[in-house]
Amino acid sequence: MLTCATSRLLLFWGSKGLVTGMTKRHTQNARTLRLVGSEPEANPAVAPGAPDHTPIVERPPGGNLPVQLTSFVGREREVSEVEGLLSDHRLVTLTGPGGSGKTRLALAVAFGVAASFEDGVWLIELAPLSDPDLVPQAVAQALGVREVPGQPLTEKLVAHLQGRKVLLVLDNCEHLVEACAMLSDRLLRSCLELRVLATSRETLSIAGEYTWLVPSLLLPDRERLAVEELGRFEAIRLFVERTRAVRPGFEITEQNARVIAQICQ
Ligand SMILES: Nc1ncnc2c1ncn2[C@@H]1O[C@H](COP(=O)(O)OP(=O)(O)O)[C@@H](O)[C@H]1O
Ligand SMILES: [Mg+2]
Repeated sequence: MLTCATSRLLLFWGSKGLVTGMTKRHTQNARTLRLVGSEPEANPAVAPGAPDHTPIVERPPGGNLPVQLTSFVGREREVSEVEGLLSDHRLVTLTGPGGSGKTRLALAVAFGVAASFEDGVWLIELAPLSDPDLVPQAVAQALGVREVPGQPLTEKLVAHLQGRKVLLVLDNCEHLVEACAMLSDRLLRSCLELRVLATSRETLSIAGEYTWLVPSLLLPDRERLAVEELGRFEAIRLFVERTRAVRPGFEITEQNARVIAQICQ
């Protein structure tokens, strides 16, 4: 049994890429499996019973959600609504035009529900991909599932995800809608504990999908508003926070309020 301190050290070494040459004995420990967050592949080259020195795939527990470097503004109601949707539906797609905050909202929801997914919340950023055939690879890479020549990767993903309580966040599916739809459909049908949160300008249009249109950040509907009222609006708060990052001490004044409200419209 690994001690807590050992587990933390493993995690630390793992994050530094220093966990190598560990024996299969270690991997049989369920706690270790959860720590590394990825089931080691059986190595066909190793005789049964002999020590397997296949390196463990290093993964932090709980997935790969990136730490956000900027604050998340408002959206309390939306976050809790989407969290609720995810408990009722196995595929939720956040839709809306580019820049409407789909990705940021999905990440906030993903962080919020992470504790309910004991096998992790995994973000797959699809924006940089242009080839639809690479969607399964992108998912496999995030999950630490290795491709084996001659074995369909989608089937490896199914085998990996079966019985695992995982949330996949498929971010920016719009240019790969068909590939994302096919993969999600296959995985959701075979892996009953799996849930998918997708962001996409276009819906995936598969059975069981719940589509949710991301509303704009709250905006003042009049250009002339009292300065103290403007701070209530999320779009204005976002503008002020980001401006303060480059101009510390920036404030809304009677003079700039109208222009700020117009910019945020
Ligand atoms: N609620 C929010 N709080 C802070 N920043 C936000 C919020 N919503 C959106 N943004 C920022 O606005 C920009 C566009 O949002 P993004 O989520 O990427 O939109 P989309 O995914 O719909 O194209 C990003 O820089 C993002 O960080
Ligand atoms: Mg996006």
